[in-house]
Amino acid sequence: MTQIPGAWEPSRQSLEYADKVLKATHDSGSLYRFGLPMIASENIISPRVAQVVNSDLHGRYAEGLPGKRYYQGCTDFDTIESIGIQLAQEIFEAPFANIQSTSGTVSNIGALKALAPSGGKITAVSTADGGHISHARMGAVGLRNLDLTTYPWDEERMEPDIDASCKLIREVQPHCALFGQSVFLFPTPMKEMADAAKESGANVMYDGAHVLGLIAGGQFQDPLREGADVMTGSSHKTFPGPQGGFLLSSSEDESFQRKLNNSMFPGVCSSYHLHHVAGKVVALAEFKEYGVAYAKDTVANAKALASALSAEGFDVLAESRGFTASHQIVTRHGELDSGAGAKAANVLEKAGIITNMNMLPGDTKALSPSGLRLGVQELTRVGMSIDEMQDIAKLYRRVLIDGEEPSQVRHAVRQLKSEFQTVRYCFNEKEISGYP
Ligand SMILES: Cc1ncc(COP(=O)(O)O)c(C=O)c1O
Repeated sequence: MTQIPGAWEPSRQSLEYADKVLKATHDSGSLYRFGLPMIASENIISPRVAQVVNSDLHGRYAEGLPGKRYYQGCTDFDTIESIGIQLAQEIFEAPFANIQSTSGTVSNIGALKALAPSGGKITAVSTADGGHISHARMGAVGLRNLDLTTYPWDEERMEPDIDASCKLIREVQPHCALFGQSVFLFPTPMKEMADAAKESGANVMYDGAHVLGLIAGGQFQDPLREGADVMTGSSHKTFPGPQGGFLLSSSEDESFQRKLNNSMFPGVCSSYHLHHVAGKVVALAEFKEYGVAYAKDTVANAKALASALSAEGFDVLAESRGFTASHQIVTRHGELDSGAGAKAANVLEKAGIITNMNMLPGDTKALSPSGLRLGVQELTRVGMSIDEMQDIAKLYRRVLIDGEEPSQVRHAVRQLKSEFQTVRYCFNEKEISGYP
């Protein structure tokens, strides 16, 4: 009789690979459990979201839309996706929502497929000014072979120069005018630029990957009512769901909506990670209850941390505008292209504070930039508030200004974080820890 696979003695090497992965997964969990996760694009999922993400849906397939499937066995998933579409339409006040995208980048690739012909023209924020790589030739824009022109940038205000950008849009006459960035401190002044785009016959797209939860919670801007035809976004940054994306539109036009649905399937997805879609739907239900409070507290914490860092002696960008109106804070740590941001991120990690280096306006080298980008959305989600923001600013000072040994500061970081282990702003009656 042939032996059942799994019953024979595995080779040591294969087992070691698997064990190493398990150990590294555990260690990575501990890093965030006892550290300060401050990367602006991350978040933590709620216990109920975790339950559906780690479910049988993980291995299942669905293609098409609820009620119009290419596979059998989708009746229960149809229920899930239908609730999700309805909740997304409600929460984003969007006549159209597609919740299938597996990431913000996938949403962008799909949206660009629907909004501009291959080889067409697009305007967007440059990556040097904070635009995302999917807005660039190296990313989704290049995949569609789009001819990219970037907006003139107002460094002081950290947003497109409105008059110059309107002029540029009228000159270029793009098929798609794309707004939104990865370094996103202030709402984009959309109105005039969207009007200029519409006059030129362009579709207006807003990439809300970072700020989607703040938008849904009514605390940033309302792009779908400020001229955007389409809004894309990630479901796991300030919107606190599992990794995935959204595609939303203000359009009531059924043929345009069909085009958007087609851009996801068959455009860029076959099956689309059903466990994550189910997680997104639970996160939408939680957001409906707690989203406004979460978004408000997140922005308040970002403002508090920015002020506290400035008071501790850090060079925090955009002081004249109150530092930030989002979940992000940007700090300068040395001369342009000096790599001071990379160095700071490195030392902070040794103290258990997880951030990312970031190019600031004028930096030209992505791997040796002068700045850091910080986000408070996850710290807010585990219940930290303005008092903790003051404490965190002091921890930054000890590491980066006082030059204290990072391992010593790590101890204080661990002590602080130990008290913030439970996910808030979600259905969590049993107070289950958010960190596995
Ligand atoms: C503006 C912007 N768009 C898109 C993305 C990509 O999102 P995802 O990582 O979900 O693909 C990001 C990622 O941080 C982003 O900053």
